[in-house]
Amino acid sequence: MDASSSQLIESKVASWLELYLSEGSNYTPNTADLMALQSEHAAKHYAYDDVVMSRRNGMYLTDSEGRECIDGNGTYSACADPDNVFTLGATAFRQILKLTHVQNKFLNEQQPLLLELLDNVSGLPVAVFMNSGAEAFDTVVKASRRYGYRVKGVKKNKAKIIVAKRNFHGRTLCAISASSERKYQEDFGPLVPGFIKIAFGDIAALEKYVSRPDVVAFIVEVVQGEGGVHIANQHYWRAVQALCAKHNVLIVFDEVQTGLGRTGALFCHQHYGLTPDMMMLAKAFAQVLPASAVLGKKHIMDIAFEPGSHGSTFGGNPVSCAVARKSIELIMAKRDLGDGITGSLVENSRDVGGYLLDQLKDALRNNPNVIDIRGKGLLIGIELNKKLITCEYLRQKTRDKLLIGGAAGSNTYRLSPPLTAQRKHADEMTSIVVESLPY
Ligand SMILES: Cc1ncc(COP(=O)(O)O)c(C=O)c1O
Repeated sequence: MDASSSQLIESKVASWLELYLSEGSNYTPNTADLMALQSEHAAKHYAYDDVVMSRRNGMYLTDSEGRECIDGNGTYSACADPDNVFTLGATAFRQILKLTHVQNKFLNEQQPLLLELLDNVSGLPVAVFMNSGAEAFDTVVKASRRYGYRVKGVKKNKAKIIVAKRNFHGRTLCAISASSERKYQEDFGPLVPGFIKIAFGDIAALEKYVSRPDVVAFIVEVVQGEGGVHIANQHYWRAVQALCAKHNVLIVFDEVQTGLGRTGALFCHQHYGLTPDMMMLAKAFAQVLPASAVLGKKHIMDIAFEPGSHGSTFGGNPVSCAVARKSIELIMAKRDLGDGITGSLVENSRDVGGYLLDQLKDALRNNPNVIDIRGKGLLIGIELNKKLITCEYLRQKTRDKLLIGGAAGSNTYRLSPPLTAQRKHADEMTSIVVESLPY
């Protein structure tokens, strides 16, 4: 791009931003009207709290009542670096003005660069892009089945995929079919067949099925996030890797939630020294835009997909690719983390996550409502005693005290704040949780 067209784009970005900011400052939404519209016209698949979220400033979200709440949820782990939304937004804006998207038959200027970056950071050289984590799940199911038929010689339409009970891979029909949650499936049948569901962390259960000739893959979260923050040990993962290799069963990690720094490693499987055949990314992948990726080993991806076998109108569009590149670079870049510490958000997640976990464990050690506190990096679950307290009660209580937390599993309160959280934020979240839990 020559200097004058670059200048033109920069000046357009500046004037658009000015317009946006001036509209933003004049815009005062009426909460009651918005809620009435939502309630009248939105499908009822979310139970909304009675506020409208209107803006974010770093770790804090402001609702329509003007209350500033600390974000202990990070938009279900998607919001990694809220301090750099301007940079991410400007990256998107610049690319939107230059070229939003064209037919996928044409290369765009951003996708090859993102592919190269993904190879460099993951060691998985081939990728395919979609728009959500759930679509990434469907994609790995398709790729695994193809591998099974074309390489393993599984009989037509007989391929089986092992998944873990309590998993969460999204809400498409394929993903809910893999779930062990009845409420996700009720009256949506017939479901997609071919999933074998085994207990997470149970190597004997895997051993029982992995040698079957029709089994093509084990698709699993490295830490089960939505299922209640469940963590398996090194011994388990090493055995999983060895068993899958022995029986030519693909090992596929769903790192939609755990990937890109959330657990204190760039990818959670790196904590255990594992090498996946494929990996799914979404959420923090492009942070401010819906985008996902499946990365894989070349011999698998090349067998799985030929022209016409897969695709998505917006998957891999240059805007998402530019933002994903910037997002990954920001997550990995060294920066001033406050308190005189320099490091990346990945290191920060490990440090502040460990601190938050210790603080919570310490403060809640004798609280009868708490059964267990588990975590890896900034993905932490407080499992509550169902007989004494519901997670929804704690979620509402902390919400009243201006902490946004989340619910996971059957009764686990989840904290997954942005990766920019500092120790002072960890202290703030701990105090609110402690004050909100009755003794
Ligand atoms: C591990 C995991 N996989 C897949 C998904 C689905 O992602 P999406 O909501 O983008 O479809 C989620 C969402 O929470 C997730 O946590």
